[in-house]
Amino acid sequence: MKVILVTGANRGIGFEIVRQLARLGENVILTARDSAKGMGAVEKLASEGLKVHFIHLDITSRQQIFEAVDEVKQRFGKLDVLINNSGIMHKQDRSILQTDDAVISDTLSTNALAPLKVTQAFASIIPRGGRVIIMSSDGGSMSNPIGGWSPVYCVSKSMLNAITRHLAYALSEKGISVNAMCPGWVKTDLGGSGAPLTAEQGADTAVWLATTDKPESGKIWRNRKKIPW
Ligand SMILES: NC(=O)c1ccc[n+]([C@@H]2O[C@H](COP(=O)([O-])OP(=O)(O)OC[C@H]3O[C@@H](n4cnc5c(N)ncnc54)[C@H](OP(=O)(O)O)[C@@H]3O)[C@@H](O)[C@H]2O)c1
Repeated sequence: MKVILVTGANRGIGFEIVRQLARLGENVILTARDSAKGMGAVEKLASEGLKVHFIHLDITSRQQIFEAVDEVKQRFGKLDVLINNSGIMHKQDRSILQTDDAVISDTLSTNALAPLKVTQAFASIIPRGGRVIIMSSDGGSMSNPIGGWSPVYCVSKSMLNAITRHLAYALSEKGISVNAMCPGWVKTDLGGSGAPLTAEQGADTAVWLATTDKPESGKIWRNRKKIPW
């Protein structure tokens, strides 16, 4: 059984990743920035016969990140797979020419800088053969045409892709793989009701990256296949 931690897992794709990994019998830690919502999610899974652990974690709080690392170390001794799933998209993020500072700062901090800080902190307890999975988006692509939607969100995901490549390089010496992925356009609070995919479908590639034998590193994936950055 692998010890696997998922950020932002009280709802949406993160919750579904936890559910699918728990069904596979993995030792899964569901984290959430709101303890009541996190415990609600844990109880929902318990009602389905799935036992998962809970740790409180707001990924933008350096103190909570270090407390979470300590707790995982004490309770499990190591972390085999870190899944950086949390993300935000502001409704006011409509024009790259007009988005205000607060939206820019919150989006870049939560979507790009926080996963970097979370990975820096957890790297110390991830053993050789461990994995880091980073939830990116096609919106961050540097090769697809610009879609024009939520530009600051898309920039944050481009930054997250660059961070993924540098983390993969830096962690290769320790034998830890680091990969980004796009879940597709998924029906969640963030993706909206018009999205064609279910959360279950959106979670699939993350679950595959977490459990497949000997994954490559420094790549971005969609539908279990490598795609261009
Ligand atoms: N849905 C799509 O179509 C789509 C497409 C491409 C990529 N993605 C990516 O997939 C990931 C999951 O998205 P989703 O669609 O499942 O969105 P969602 O339903 O809105 O869920 C987002 C999750 O992130 C959590 N979160 C936000 N800020 C956080 C913070 N500071 N600390 C800890 N948790 C935080 C939220 O917690 P609260 O409940 O407390 O707010 C929630 O659990 C995101 O990275 C998103 O960018 C989604």
